[in-house]
Amino acid sequence: MGNGGKVFSCCIVVAAGKASRMAGNANKQYIMVGGKPILARTLAIFETCASVDEIIVVIGKDDRDKYETKIGRYGFHKVRAVVEGGDTRQQSVYSGLRAVDDSTGIVLIHDGARPFVEQGVVERCINTAREFGGCCAAVPLKDTIKYVDDECFARKTPDRKRLWAIQTPQVFDYGIILEAHRKALKDGFTGTDDAVLAERLGIKIKMVMGSYHNIKITTSEDLLFAEAIAGLKHS
Ligand code: CTP
Ligand code: MG
Repeated sequence: MGNGGKVFSCCIVVAAGKASRMAGNANKQYIMVGGKPILARTLAIFETCASVDEIIVVIGKDDRDKYETKIGRYGFHKVRAVVEGGDTRQQSVYSGLRAVDDSTGIVLIHDGARPFVEQGVVERCINTAREFGGCCAAVPLKDTIKYVDDECFARKTPDRKRLWAIQTPQVFDYGIILEAHRKALKDGFTGTDDAVLAERLGIKIKMVMGSYHNIKITTSEDLLFAEAIAGLKHS
């Protein structure tokens, strides 16, 4: 997009979930952490990240007023569109993808509920996606994982050294992730992240070292950790 040969990058922030695992039933994106709504914290990271050119926010269809009053007032300049999500995360990402400008080179996909991703991780992901076509922020697992049978007896214990916990951002060449989503839609395939859709095209997804601070706020306990991390970032 005519910015000095630099590849134009767009970050899709998905915030259209129902937060069914969070007590209280309110969409968790608008819960205050360290005096700021979670989603405002997340958007502020990309707003101030030099390698991100614009942001598309995907919100719940009933959340527009909430977004305007609670988030709109922060005046994020890079937010180009606020679009409605769907019933699944994958549908919400696809809504965001359809709003991406055609001239975009790199697309970042990030959970609105991950307000603590470091800018260094975002930068590393963008560089890695430019080299390999697709990547995910991720951390090596600390716990041992058991694969269990229907009666909850251990079947297999995969080698922990080969297991990574996947986070966001997940960052891709725009053409690759658009094709990956279209193919998934055509095949009726629903994945639990975006990378698996690109893997179905045969793209090799590179892991980028994320951080253990980059938690996804999912249940009420996570709010305790979130307050602590928000405090750390302030000190
Ligand atoms: N998300 C979305 N659209 C959906 C489902 C999820 O945009 N239909 C977003 C969430 O808002 C969140 C991110 O995807 O930022 C990760 O999803 P998750 O943590 O599972 O959030 P929820 O789906 O809202 O929570 P739950 O699964 O507990 O209902
Ligand atoms: Mg969910």
